[in-house]
Amino acid sequence: MKNLFDEVKINNLTIKNRFARSATWENMTDNGKINQKLFDLYEELAKGEIGLIITGYANIVKEEQPNPGMFGIYDDSFISGYKELCNRVHKYNSKIILQVAYGGTKTKYNVGERKIYAPSNISELSTGTTGTPMTKEDINYIVRAFGRSARRAKESGFDGIEIHGAHTYLINQFLSPYYNQRTDEYGGSLENRMRFLIEIYTAMRNETDIDYPILLKLTASDFFNGGLTFKETRKIAQEMEKLGIDAIEISGNIHGKGEALIGHEFEGYKIQKEAYFGEFSKIVAKDLKIPVITVGGIKNYKTADEILNSSNISMFGLSRPLLTEPHLIKRWKEGNIKKVKCVRCSKCRTPKGNYCVIFNR
Ligand SMILES: Cc1cc2nc3c(=O)[nH]c(=O)nc-3n(C[C@H](O)[C@H](O)[C@H](O)COP(=O)(O)O)c2cc1C
Repeated sequence: MKNLFDEVKINNLTIKNRFARSATWENMTDNGKINQKLFDLYEELAKGEIGLIITGYANIVKEEQPNPGMFGIYDDSFISGYKELCNRVHKYNSKIILQVAYGGTKTKYNVGERKIYAPSNISELSTGTTGTPMTKEDINYIVRAFGRSARRAKESGFDGIEIHGAHTYLINQFLSPYYNQRTDEYGGSLENRMRFLIEIYTAMRNETDIDYPILLKLTASDFFNGGLTFKETRKIAQEMEKLGIDAIEISGNIHGKGEALIGHEFEGYKIQKEAYFGEFSKIVAKDLKIPVITVGGIKNYKTADEILNSSNISMFGLSRPLLTEPHLIKRWKEGNIKKVKCVRCSKCRTPKGNYCVIFNR
């Protein structure tokens, strides 16, 4: 029988249990720089016995920022702050991975004041924002920036890096036949739509080394007609495994609205009440040998335990429940396996920083 407190290996990295804090943008940096508030927040998470912490997303080029108060990783000036962050987390034997992203058109933040790239001239469905279709030079520029971010993550002492390929951000848009209507080698067939992601992954691998954990967060599906399908996501995960990606986290574009879609069926699989994308993640985990992390709607220790023992899923990602209870995993480890306190109201995104407004943390 597998246990949620077993060790897990991602590439050469050993993680003390099967719980990950999924990337959670905090809206607390000083112009991208880490500060005391964030040191304290991450130290608290590490004290709470979480095996792996994935940071809030960091922007890889200065001019691109989908949200305020997010981390930066676009030049070397960030490295010393992150060294301190990693040291603080490592003191408690938790591991920490930097998530990197190019946001793109899924934003309403300072639109009109900066150039926002997109694969094609298609406005994002939830924000209505349209971006500039990328030239080959623009693509090379972003690919290089992702590569350098990995070199910086490694120099900072992060235990790995995660590529944000989900939630309708730029990489997800390249993968999606709805957002990507290009007629060059980056559009059309799935092979072409994957090219941008593959170039990013390759640049990151080249800037680090074979042992450095590189993870990928993917959406199970775009969950609308004409968008990326689950069948395609399975294929992407398989191809990325062949290329050397070290773990895949399965999420959805609807994470905030997960509750509203419980019971809805997509391509024969249902959004679940607990572990929204569990059914999708189980299939991906069966296809692959590398660890698969499922994220979204994890509420009960027992449900995670059941999923663990009835599938190849290796890890469980949590975001909102850890805003409510940073010491949730410690509580579960000590035997109090009552359900998470988080009620998934998703009111945690506030202009004053992202925190649990219900339980007032
Ligand atoms: C305040 C907030 C910030 C988030 N920031 C990120 C992020 O930076 N990167 C990312 O991939 N997902 C982000 N997410 C999504 C979470 O990682 C996760 O996929 C989603 O909340 C579902 O998990 P949960 O049900 O455990 O909250 C964020 C979610 C919340 C609530």
